[in-house]
Amino acid sequence: MEKRLYLKIQPKVIDHLGIKMYQKPVDVIAEYIANAWDADSEEVSVILENIKITVSDKGDGMTFNECQDCYLQVGRDRREVSGKDTSNRKERPVLGRKGIGKFAGFGVAKTITVDTISRATGEKTVFKMDIDSILEYDVQKEDNKIIEVVEYCEPDEYRKENHGTTIILERMDLSFGADLIDNFKKELSRRFLLTQFYDDFVVLINDEPLPHNFNDEMEFVFPRDLTEDEKNKFPKVTSFNNNGWAVEDFDEFEIKWRIGFYEEPIKVEELRGIGVYVKGKLAQKPFFFDLTGGISAQNSLEYMTGQVQMDFIDTGENNLISTERQRINLQTELGKKIKVWGIEKIKEWGSIWKSRRSEKRLADINDKISGFRNRLDALPRTERRTVETVLKKIATFDRLGQARFKEWCADILTSWEKGRLRNIITELAEQDELDETQFIEILSEADVLTALNIAESVKTKIVAIGELKERVKSKELENKVRDYIYEHPWLIHPKWETYRKERSVEKLIKDIADKELKVDVFQGRVDLVLSSGQDLLLVEFMRPGLSLDRDHLDRINYYVMGVRRELAKQTGLQFRHVDSAYVIADNKNSAEDVTERILQLQEKKIFVLTWESLISQALKQWGDYLDLIKLRNPEDIRIQEL
Ligand SMILES: Nc1ncnc2c1ncn2[C@@H]1O[C@H](COP(=O)(O)OP(=O)(O)O)[C@@H](O)[C@H]1O
Ligand SMILES: [Mg+2]
Repeated sequence: MEKRLYLKIQPKVIDHLGIKMYQKPVDVIAEYIANAWDADSEEVSVILENIKITVSDKGDGMTFNECQDCYLQVGRDRREVSGKDTSNRKERPVLGRKGIGKFAGFGVAKTITVDTISRATGEKTVFKMDIDSILEYDVQKEDNKIIEVVEYCEPDEYRKENHGTTIILERMDLSFGADLIDNFKKELSRRFLLTQFYDDFVVLINDEPLPHNFNDEMEFVFPRDLTEDEKNKFPKVTSFNNNGWAVEDFDEFEIKWRIGFYEEPIKVEELRGIGVYVKGKLAQKPFFFDLTGGISAQNSLEYMTGQVQMDFIDTGENNLISTERQRINLQTELGKKIKVWGIEKIKEWGSIWKSRRSEKRLADINDKISGFRNRLDALPRTERRTVETVLKKIATFDRLGQARFKEWCADILTSWEKGRLRNIITELAEQDELDETQFIEILSEADVLTALNIAESVKTKIVAIGELKERVKSKELENKVRDYIYEHPWLIHPKWETYRKERSVEKLIKDIADKELKVDVFQGRVDLVLSSGQDLLLVEFMRPGLSLDRDHLDRINYYVMGVRRELAKQTGLQFRHVDSAYVIADNKNSAEDVTERILQLQEKKIFVLTWESLISQALKQWGDYLDLIKLRNPEDIRIQEL
C-alpha cells in the first residue's frame, strides 16, 4: 500500500509559525540545531550553499509513525506527552517546547525536506513539505494536508547504524557569500552555549566548528577581571569562577553570568546587551532588562555585552519564554523580580566598568599627550600642571579624531605660550566634569572658537548636510546628488570619513558585472564605489521621489552577491571584499514584500537608507555642535534652517 503522511493544521497557522516568526536564517537554523540536540545527536552539520541550507544530525531519527505522530503535529508539547523533560538516551535537558520549531524553515525557504533513519528500526522515510501546496489546501479550507512521501524503506537491521535526520531547505531567496559565513558563525555561536558546556555536542558550519570565544577582543571581562574589592559588591555570588561564570543565588534558584566590555561602542545590535540563555540556548536576545531612564554609568551600555543563564524559567508555572524564543516575559511576578535583578546588575557592572576604564584611560592619555611632553616640560611647574590637565581632558573626548586632538592641543599650548587665553585655559583646567560640548561652549563664550578652528570644521560639515538636503528636496538629478556624496562620503556614515572614491576599481566592478551577470542589470555600474584599505563599499542611489520596489532590490542583491563572489575568487586583487552596500532611495509606501526583502538584505549587509534618514542621521552626528553653531551664527540662514 502506498504510504501517506498528513499534516493537520488550521488555515493560516503555518503562515504565522514559519513565515512570520522566523526571518533570520540564524534563528531558523537554531531551531534545527535544537532538534538535533533533543534527538541526542553528538554532531550537527550545517551546510550553507548558495540557495540551499542542509542541517544533518546523527540523532535517533524517526520511524514512519513518529514522522506522523511527532513531527507532523502542530503544537505537540513533547515534554508533556512523554512526561519528562530530558532526552531519551543522553538525558539532556530538552529544548523542544511547543512543537512548532520544524516550520521555522518556511521563514526562508519554500520547501522543507526531511530525510530520516530511525535508530530503533532502521526505517528510512523521506518527505517533503511545500509551503505553496500547504497554503493551497488552506484556500480550499482543508485542514488535512497530504504531505508528499518521497521515499520509504522498511525497517532494516543494517541501516540502523546510519541513524539520523537531515533537513534540507530549498527554494530560498537567500544566498550565502563566503564573506558572510564568518559572520554567520559568530551569530550562531551566540545562540548556543551548549557546544561550550558539553563535549558530546559539536556544531559544524560548512565543516568547521562554531567559534565560541566569549573574551574575543574585549577590554574587560567580569567576573574574570574583578578585584577582591569589586567582588564584595556581589554578596549573593557563591562562586566567582565556575569556568568563567559567576554563580549567584536568586531566591531558591541560581543565575550564572559573565559580562564583557568592548573597547569601542558595540555596533552590532546582536551583541549589545545581555542575552538570556535557558539550558544553553538563547531565550532572550541581548537587551537591558527593559531598563529605562538614565543610570550614572549610562554610556557603559554602549560597550556592554553579556550572557546570563537562567535555566529555571522554562518549567511549569515559571514559563517565561515566548513562542518564538526571542523574548522572555518580564510581566509575571517572577519576571518582575528578574527585571529588578537585571537592572541592578547592569548598574553595578556599569559602574565598575566606568572606574576601570578611567584608570586605563589615564594610562592611555599619558601616552597620548606624550607628543607634547617637551613643550609641556618647558613651562614652569605650576603652569605645566594647568596646561597638562587641559590636554588630558581633551584626550578623553572620544569623538575627537586623532588629527583634531592634536590640533586642539597644539592650539592650547601655543595660546598659553604666547600668553593668550590664560584665564580660560585655567578655568578649563579647574572644571571637573567636562564633555566636549561644554568645552567648546566655554571657548566659544570667550569668542575664541574660531581661534581653535573647531567651529569651522564642524560648520563646514553642517553646511554640507544642509546643501544635500536642498538638493534632495528639489529632487535634483541623481547624478548631482551622487557627485555630492562622492565628495562627502561621511554623510552616509561618520566612519566613512576615511573612505575615498575609488575610480580605479570601477572598471573591475564593471567587468565583473558584465562577465558574471551576463545581463546588463546596472548598465555595468553601481553609482558609487568607495574604498578604505581592502574594503569596498558600494552605493546605489535612486532619484529622490522615486520609490523603491522589489524588483530593484532583487537586482541589487544579485549584483552585490556577484561582486562578492568574484572578489572571493581572485585573491590577488588589492580589494578583498565588499564590506557593505547601501541603497539610498525613497521608501514611502512600501508593500509588505518590499519590507520583508529589505530585512533579508540586511543580513547580507545590504542596507537601505532613505534620503530623509540619511540627512537626519548625518545631522544627529553633529547635533550637539549644531545647537552651538546656531547660537553663534544667528544671521546665517542656511544654518538656522537646519
Ligand atoms: N532532528 C530530529 N530528529 C529526531 N526527531 C525530531 C527531529 N526534529 C524533530 N523531531 C521530532 O519532531 C518533533 C517536533 O519538532 P519541533 O516542531 O521542533 O517541536 P519541539 O522541538 O518543540 O518538540 C520533536 O519533538 C521530535 O519528536
Ligand atoms: Mg524543536
